[in-house]
Amino acid sequence: MKVLATAPGKATLFGEHSVVYGRPAIAMAINRRVTVELTSRKDDKAVLHFPDVSVKGFTLTFKGEAITAKTNKANASQAAGYVVEAIRTVAKRLGDYRGVNVTVKSEMPVGAGLGTSAAVAIATAAAYSELLGKRFDGPALSRIGREVELRVQKVSSGMDSSVIALGGLVEFQLKGSDLVAHPLHFKEEMPMVLGYCPRISTTAQSVARVAQLRDRNIHVIEKVFDSIEQVVLEAKKKIVGGETASLGELMNINQGLLSALGVSTLKIEEMVYAARKAGASGAKLTGAGMGGSVLCLVNSSTLTKPVALALSTVGAESFVFEPDYSGVRVQHV
Ligand code: PMV
Repeated sequence: MKVLATAPGKATLFGEHSVVYGRPAIAMAINRRVTVELTSRKDDKAVLHFPDVSVKGFTLTFKGEAITAKTNKANASQAAGYVVEAIRTVAKRLGDYRGVNVTVKSEMPVGAGLGTSAAVAIATAAAYSELLGKRFDGPALSRIGREVELRVQKVSSGMDSSVIALGGLVEFQLKGSDLVAHPLHFKEEMPMVLGYCPRISTTAQSVARVAQLRDRNIHVIEKVFDSIEQVVLEAKKKIVGGETASLGELMNINQGLLSALGVSTLKIEEMVYAARKAGASGAKLTGAGMGGSVLCLVNSSTLTKPVALALSTVGAESFVFEPDYSGVRVQHV
């Protein structure tokens, strides 16, 4: 049996990091996807292939409740960890273990703040549960995705998982352990460019950095979170009211506040300023930061090329994207 699942990446428009502390955020699924293909095996192994995700041979063996993962690379990339934990979580929930060949492909850079880890986890969970004869709905996959992220990276607001499982533009808030996601809609075309550069920290390290800063300066950082929350609320009003042309200014304010949290870098700032100079009405880091991706909003599609060019002059790669409204998809092939 062969099952294919695809899941979109995501870009956070407003509110990353403060979302970990229960503040609201706005994020959207993007039209770049990861694909996870599963084929049944006769034995009880799960063999992982990552042709374009730069993780070499990885073997996982199921033995009843215990699952052992063996890799020939001491430092196997995190992507493998998300696959392993997604299979483990679904197998445990359904009380069923079956050997599979897993192939993961990505249309976007992995580990650049575009939610690829959550996308890999959710696509794997959707495909593996389908193979075991069960189809989870979007909210259930969001929860499984967060569970996987918590196991691998120890912290997760659940925002990435919710946006990726559900698709579209989403206002998200973690309330206790509830993942609360409300759909939003852009009333007009929203041309956007994503620039990216290598990250110098993982998501978990960036989140830990903010946590330490907050511990040392709790009253100051809580005020920064309050300001980010206010930015999110103003942005929501603008999206609902169709005043998206003025969202850029709020993105720029959010970038300043992320800088105050210590997760921007010189390279990110160079990308942000290059994009703004080339005509982006707003540019901010998106995701955990410390390198990674910069989201650039332009008020006319004629500006996407100059912005992409400006990003390349500071050494960043880029692509133009649109929101994706379909979330995770799964099919038998
Ligand atoms: O960099 P990414 O795509 O892993 O996004 C992380 C977003 C954070 O708000 C920093 C963490 C979280 O769990 O929401």
